Formats: sequence, C-alpha cells, structure tokens
Amino acid sequence: MPVLVVVGAQWGDEGKGKIIDLLTERADVVARYQGGHNAGHTVVVGMNEFILHLVPSGILHKGKKCIIGNGVVVDPAALLEEMDAMTKRGIKFDKNLLISKNAHLIMPYHKALDVASEKLKGNKKIGTTGRGIGPAYADKINRKGIRMADLLDEKTFREKLSCNTGEANFMLERFYNAPLVNQDQVYDEYQGYARRLKKYIADTTLYLSEAIAGKKKVLAEGAQGTHLDVDHGTYPFVTSSSPTAGGACTGLGIGPNTITEVLGIVKAYTTRVGSGPFPTELNDKTGELLRERGKEYGATTGRARRCGWADTLIIRHAVRVNGMTSAAITKLDVLDTLEELKICVGYKYKGKLYEEMPSELAVLEQGVPQYITMPGWKQTTIGIKKYEDLPKKARTYVEKLCKLSGVKPSIVSTGPRRDETIILERPFQTVKKR
Ligand code: GDP
Ligand code: IMO
Ligand code: MG
Repeated sequence: MPVLVVVGAQWGDEGKGKIIDLLTERADVVARYQGGHNAGHTVVVGMNEFILHLVPSGILHKGKKCIIGNGVVVDPAALLEEMDAMTKRGIKFDKNLLISKNAHLIMPYHKALDVASEKLKGNKKIGTTGRGIGPAYADKINRKGIRMADLLDEKTFREKLSCNTGEANFMLERFYNAPLVNQDQVYDEYQGYARRLKKYIADTTLYLSEAIAGKKKVLAEGAQGTHLDVDHGTYPFVTSSSPTAGGACTGLGIGPNTITEVLGIVKAYTTRVGSGPFPTELNDKTGELLRERGKEYGATTGRARRCGWADTLIIRHAVRVNGMTSAAITKLDVLDTLEELKICVGYKYKGKLYEEMPSELAVLEQGVPQYITMPGWKQTTIGIKKYEDLPKKARTYVEKLCKLSGVKPSIVSTGPRRDETIILERPFQTVKKR
C-alpha cells in the first residue's frame, strides 16, 4: 500500500513536475492533493515541454490514473482549457482522469475578489497569482463553497450561486469599487462545464482506498511548497492551502498510516515568486545569473522569480514539518559556472543568532544571513546520470547541503529532461518500518 508524497521544500517551483513525471513510471496512480491553477509544473519529454496547472504531472505517461483530489480548488474553465490544449498534443483523458466530487470550484467572483483585494493592499500585496485561490479556499472554510457534486445538481448549484454572487457583488461594489459578476452568465457558463466534466467526477476517496488496498502504488502530488503552506509557511505571504505532507491526507482522504515515503523536492539554490521575506535573496549579478541559467520565470504568470542562495534553515524546517524521508536535489547544473557558492546556516538579528527557522517576519526580513562558503566546481554537470561522474566539489556541495538540512539525498537532477537525473535510491522502496 505504498503512498509516496512529493512536496516542495522551499517556496514552490523546485522542479516537482519533472520529478513526479519521472516517478510516475513506477506508480499506478498520481493524485494532486491541494492548490489550484496557481501551480505551474513544467515537464519536458524529449523535445516537448508541457506546463501543467491542474492536471497531475503523471498524465504524460500512458495508462496511469490521474486524480484531482478533494483538496484541490478547480477553475473548470482553466481545467478544460488545459485539457483541450493537451488533447491537441495527443494526451488522452477519458480513462485516465478522475476529479473528486468534493473538490471545490473556483468561481468568477473568487477571481474578481482576489484581484480587487490585491489592488487595495497596494505595496502590502501578497503578490498572488490572481486566480481566485484565496477566496475559493476562504469560502470552503467558511462553509459556503460550491463543490463538484453541486455543479452536477442544477438546483443546488443555482441556489448556492445566487447566494454567493449576491454577497460577492456587495463586496465588489461597496468595498472594492470593482466590476460586478453577472450571475446568469456564470450559471450558463458553468452548466456548460458541468456537461463536459460530468464523466470525470467521481468518489476519488473510494477509488484511492481500493487502489491502496489492492497494493497499487500511489504518488501524491503536492503543489507550491512548504514555505507557502498556510500553517507552516511565511504567513501571511503564503497560499491558502496545505502543500505540506499532512495536506495529502486531508486533500485525498487517505489515512496517515498509508504514507510510506515523503520525498522533498529541494532546489540547489532558492527562488520565490511574489512578495514576502526571503533572507538569502540576491539582488546582484549572481542573482541574475541564477535567474538566467535556471530560466527562473514563472510558469503560471511569467513573473521573474526572485533568486538566492540555498538556505538550510528553511530546508530543515521543511524536513521536520513534512517528515521528509529523502530529498531530490534539483537544478544542480544551474550552479555549474559559479566561482564559489554560499549556504545559509543562520540569521543574525539584533545580536541574536537564529539557527532554526523563526516564525517572526521581522527576523526573516531583517536578519543577516550567516553563510558558509564552498568552492564552485566550474565544469558542466548537465545531463550527468551517475553520482560518481559528478565533479568532486559538486558532490561535496550536495552532501553538505543535505547534512546541514538533516536529510539524505535520493535523487539529484542535472537537467529538465527525464534522463538528466541521478537516482541514488529507487522510489517506493524505502518503505518505513513499523
Ligand atoms: P514545479 O512548480 O516545482 O513543478 O517547478 P517548475 O516547473 O515551475 O520550475 C522548475 C523549472 O526547472 C522547469 O522549467 C523545469 O523544466 C526546470 N528543471 C527541473 N529540474 C531541472 C534541473 O535539474 N536542471 C535544470 N536546468 N532545469 C530543471
Ligand atoms: P508551483 O506548484 C511558486 C505564490 C504566489 C504568491 C503566493 C500566493 O508551481 O510550485 P496564490 O495565488 O496561491 O494565492 O498566491 O503563492 N505561489 C507560487 N509560487 N510556485 C507556485 O506553485 C505557486 N503558487 C502560488 O506567487 O506569492
Ligand atoms: Mg511551478
């Protein structure tokens, strides 16, 4: 009954899509457990690049069941657009995709409220993707959300839509001075989506429980990253869901005792999109070099990602809160040309040294990062498949980063393609002893 959870260890964009696609070969089911189309997971297969937002990154392998779990918030327009674009490229959905009946819908008023709220915040904005994620989760927690099952029941859908649009339009008009949402138009639009999505909507919790009982291998796909988690991240500069491993249980309806491995995806340096503290951020030539070599531009919004050195405080925190059993170190090749590299081991704030992740924003914003410096290897690692073929200094970097973070590496990624990978430990084999 192995369930392997894949989580981002930093602020998202660690390369989860590539690793999930790679591991799908050994899995039977790939299930997304949280987030929405704020995610952008890039998968490169041969010469083809796919950017997945809602569809699980396992879809590119034939015959694997892909699930959008109850913890995901789904904008049906975005989902259908993504499916249509992939269908044109030969990807099949009919037998492969299931959407949870309990997944909540992102409605046009969620998007309008997200955009209006950010506008009002001015320079205090979170820098959201503007996709309606926060308002959709707020409605869910506030017990007003509309679920996939409601979409299939015309009467319930109309009632809920009417109630929610009334309230949202009141806020949009009176508080935000923003354009209103037309209820009748939304109703018609969503009935169209219902007709198209109906065949995919199912009791995915039941499906997963039977799959797990039948010893099928399940890959639980997290979006975003640990430090964007609403509980464990750099609140309030976070997303509105639980990307951490616990989110896989609630977001899929599986028991914690089914989880056998938690693979943390750790980028060899750090990036962040949107606002919020980033202690090791580099606003200099090295930061620019990381952005250019790493092609660090958002897969969802196209925004330039902020770049900086690896930070063992944030990785160690991720190791703890996820119960990470091993790490995939990604994008090592991006560091190939550097003369020297730094790894953050603490923050100094008002004379005090912090060696574990603080939750006070002031420490994260104003703390001075304390670094160890390591020599660069200054030779290409692109596409290396065997650990022993890595330059000695690159191995030392990986080992130091992992040791200081308290996690063992199981994968090292040396390029965006499937085969540009070093596998140190096969997934679905490190089953926890009980
Ligand atoms: P995700 O959101 O965690 O799935 O990550 P993204 O797909 O948003 O961003 C990661 C980017 O890095 C994508 O463009 C990947 O194709 C690319 N990538 C993944 N692993 C590697 C790697 O090891 N080396 C390089 N150079 N690029 C990689
Ligand atoms: P993947 O899955 C990086 C960030 C946004 C913003 C904050 C809140 O590709 O790693 P939201 O729209 O979720 O309310 O925005 O979270 N964010 C991401 N950053 N990668 C992502 O997903 C992200 N999804 C949301 O930039 O700072
Ligand atoms: Mg991404």
